[in-house]
Amino acid sequence: MTEASAGRMPGYRREGHDETARQRGDGGVIAVLGAGAIGCWVGGRLAAAGAEVTLIGRARVLDELAGGLRTTDLDGGDVLARMGDGARTVRIATEPDAARDAALVLVTVKSAQTAGAGEALARVLPEGAIAVSLQNGVRNADVLRAALPERRVLAAMVPFNVVRRGPGVYHRASAGALRIDDDPAAAPLLAACRAAALPIEPRRDMAAVQWAKLVLNLNNAINALSGLPLVAELAQRPFRRCLAAAQREALELCARAGIPVAQLTPVPPRWIPRLLDTPDRLFRIIGRRVVAIDPAARSSMWDDLEAKRPTEIDYLQGEVIDLAGRVGGGAAPVNAALAGLVRAAEAGGRRDFSGDELAAALGLR
Ligand SMILES: NC(=O)c1ccc[n+]([C@@H]2O[C@H](COP(=O)([O-])OP(=O)(O)OC[C@H]3O[C@@H](n4cnc5c(N)ncnc54)[C@H](OP(=O)(O)O)[C@@H]3O)[C@@H](O)[C@H]2O)c1
Repeated sequence: MTEASAGRMPGYRREGHDETARQRGDGGVIAVLGAGAIGCWVGGRLAAAGAEVTLIGRARVLDELAGGLRTTDLDGGDVLARMGDGARTVRIATEPDAARDAALVLVTVKSAQTAGAGEALARVLPEGAIAVSLQNGVRNADVLRAALPERRVLAAMVPFNVVRRGPGVYHRASAGALRIDDDPAAAPLLAACRAAALPIEPRRDMAAVQWAKLVLNLNNAINALSGLPLVAELAQRPFRRCLAAAQREALELCARAGIPVAQLTPVPPRWIPRLLDTPDRLFRIIGRRVVAIDPAARSSMWDDLEAKRPTEIDYLQGEVIDLAGRVGGGAAPVNAALAGLVRAAEAGGRRDFSGDELAAALGLR
């Protein structure tokens, strides 16, 4: 395990911070609003590489960081950032007020909380601060833009899964480069990511990137309803058939709506349903080349159901259903059925479907 320094912050206001940052000539404080799986992992890695990071989140999450924030990954990386006040440390706070001295704020709340996060940031973010949405879904950056009309807001995309492995330990369980709007305002985050050896790719087609991620994320619902780790779920063809049907439906609607869908994996989006339909033995060989996933990883929708929190279903399957309505009389029966089952699971319903049971519930033969 490599170690950076770390430390603890109570209610929180640090005087004279801006001057310190300017004197150092670095990118200033990076605040993370919504310290959960993604916020802690990305924030922890940036801090360990020298950035000054303030994690803003719930006490139940932050209290676990007293001994430091440990971030591990699929490639054997294991880094500790201690709580502290200064470069290479992580400070913690429970109120968005703590973003008052941030040059950059990474928004990592779930989609339903984006509007609230934006309102809170509008009250405290200093002039010139940049906000970056590191969220799934296709609307979050626009929701932030509406709340922060005076600030530069960039869309970004996180391709990998992060799971909490224990108190203060977050694990990146799959791989991929972050994507971000190709914009000069992305420079501070690009620099911090470079320092942390976090791959990040500026893109001019972030809308297409976000739709591509959404199409991949249609599996979140299937994974949550299977009750299985991702690798075990995807190893079973009946679950993959459900995903292929959901993806075909979404891709067809995107095509009809003229929405481009970027290629995020070695396989173009329209070929992925065909790949999913292959027999288990063949899929094992090809699938491994397309995406590596830790055997214990699950979708964050499974985490949400497990913790009895609302899921992001309205921002994933819900977008496909909405698109079906917009492209004129279109229907999205597979995604609508999945959304219905997830809503039932949110209310305490089943989330232990076998692949065949799920396929039958989606009306697949
Ligand atoms: N987890 C993954 O592997 C993954 C991968 C790629 C993308 N994403 C996307 O990244 C985003 C974040 O996901 P996540 O899994 O990191 O979520 P998460 O673990 O639930 O973390 C978000 C945290 O923010 C807290 N929060 C919400 N509003 C807040 C506020 N105003 N002030 C302080 N804290 C606040 C939440 O607390 P409460 O729960 O109490 O509201 C929660 O602890 C989502 O859009 C998700 O789809 C996740």
